[in-house]
Amino acid sequence: MDNKLSITHQTFESLAKKYGTPLYVYDAQLIRKRCTQAVSLFEDLPVSWLYAIKANDNPHILKVIRESGVGFDTVSLEEVLLCGHFTDNPAEIFYTENSMSDEEMNEAIRLGVTLNIGAVSRLERFFQHPDSRECSLRINPAIGEGHHTRVNTGDPESKFGVRLDLIDDCVKMADKYGKKIVGLHAHIGSGIKRPENLVAAMKVLLEAASGFKDLRMINFGGGVPTPYHPDDQIFDLDEFAKLAGPVLKEDLENRPEGFRYLFEPGRWYVAEAGTLLTTIQTIKNQVETLYLGTDTGMHHLLRPMLYDAWHRVENVSKPQDAPQKVYTIAGNICESGDILAEDRAMPDSEVGDVVAIRDAGAYGMTMASQYNRRSLPGEILVEKDGVIQVIRAPKNAQETVNEFLRECAFEV
Ligand code: LLP
Repeated sequence: MDNKLSITHQTFESLAKKYGTPLYVYDAQLIRKRCTQAVSLFEDLPVSWLYAIKANDNPHILKVIRESGVGFDTVSLEEVLLCGHFTDNPAEIFYTENSMSDEEMNEAIRLGVTLNIGAVSRLERFFQHPDSRECSLRINPAIGEGHHTRVNTGDPESKFGVRLDLIDDCVKMADKYGKKIVGLHAHIGSGIKRPENLVAAMKVLLEAASGFKDLRMINFGGGVPTPYHPDDQIFDLDEFAKLAGPVLKEDLENRPEGFRYLFEPGRWYVAEAGTLLTTIQTIKNQVETLYLGTDTGMHHLLRPMLYDAWHRVENVSKPQDAPQKVYTIAGNICESGDILAEDRAMPDSEVGDVVAIRDAGAYGMTMASQYNRRSLPGEILVEKDGVIQVIRAPKNAQETVNEFLRECAFEV
C-alpha cells in the first residue's frame, strides 16, 4: 500500500459498497500536504502558488486548496465565475485566455480579474476596450515539454502564447493605447520531466521581462509531473527549488517592491489524492487476452485513451499476496478502444470485486463525459480523521436520463 494515501483498501471497499461504483474518492489530507509543500518551497522569496483548477474543480476541493494558501489559475469564464465564490478580490484570479470571445473579454474586464493574453490580435482588442487598464502577456518561450505531444504547450509550433519576436510589438502597442502590461507568463507543458527544462523556460521569461517597464509579476506556469508509473522519473521539487531559487534571487534585485513570481501547477496538488473505484462486472478470455469488464471507462477517465496514460490498478477486495493473473481492464463504453489498463498482474479476481484506479485525481472527473448517456460518477472526500463527505452525489440511470431530457427542454 502506498503510504502517501491515508485511505486503505478496506476503506475503498466499504465506500464502494456504501455509495456504489463508479466513484471518485479523494484524500483531503494529501491535497493539503501538497499545498503546504508548494507554499513553503521558496520561503525567502516573493513566490505565490496558484492551482490550475482545470485539473479538478469540485468546489469542495477548491475550498481545501484555497484554505491552504494557494490561489486560482483559470482558463475559461466559467472557471473564473466558479472561483469567484472563493475570493472577494477578483484580481487574485489569474485568467489565461485561449481563443477568447469579445463577450468573455468584456466580462473579464468587468469582473476585474487578472487577464493573461496569449495572442496579439486579442491584446489589441483588449487595449481598445474603454475600461481596460492592464493585463498580463502569455509568451511562447520556444521550449516545450510534456508527458505527451498533446500537452506540450511551449513548442514553437503550438497554438499557445505570443512569439518571442512579436514581444516588442506588444510593448509598443501598450504604449500606443496608454495601457499597461503588468505580467508575463509562459506554460511549457504538462508533465515536465526535467526540472532543468522548467528552469530554462524561466530564464527565457526573465530575459524577455527586461523589455517591460510596468511589470509586477512573472508567472512560470505549471506542469509539475506526477509519477504514475513506478519507473517514472521523480520530479524532485526540492531539487527544482535549488536550481530555481538562485535564479529568482538574482532577478529580484532588479525588481520593484511588491514584485511577485508565480507558479500554477494543477495535477501536482490533486492527482495522487484521487482514486476511481469500479466494480468488476465480467471476466472473459478472448484468445490471448483476459478481460476484466468494469462499470466505468473512458467516459470517466479519458487519460489512458487520449494519452496512452498509465494508471496503477489494484484489486482492493483481495489480499495483495494472493496468486496473480494478468488482466486487461476494460471499460463499459461501446468502443473497442475503451481500455483502462493493459496486461496488469493482479490477484486472481472475481465478478463483484472492487478495483481502484489510482492517481486519478487530476484530469479525471473534469474530463469526464456522459458518452453512451451514462451517469457521471459520484465523488467522496475523505478527511484525515476518516470523516466522509459526499461532494457530488452519485446519480442512477433514471435520474441521469430525466436530467438530460430537462436540459434539452424535451417535454415527456
Ligand atoms: N497553466 C496552463 C496555462 C495550462 O494550460 C495548464 C494545463 C496548467 C497550468 C496546469 O498544468 P499541470 O500542472 O496540471 O500539468 N488533460 C491532460 C493535461 C492537460 C493540461 C492542460 N493545461 C492530462 O490528463 O494529462
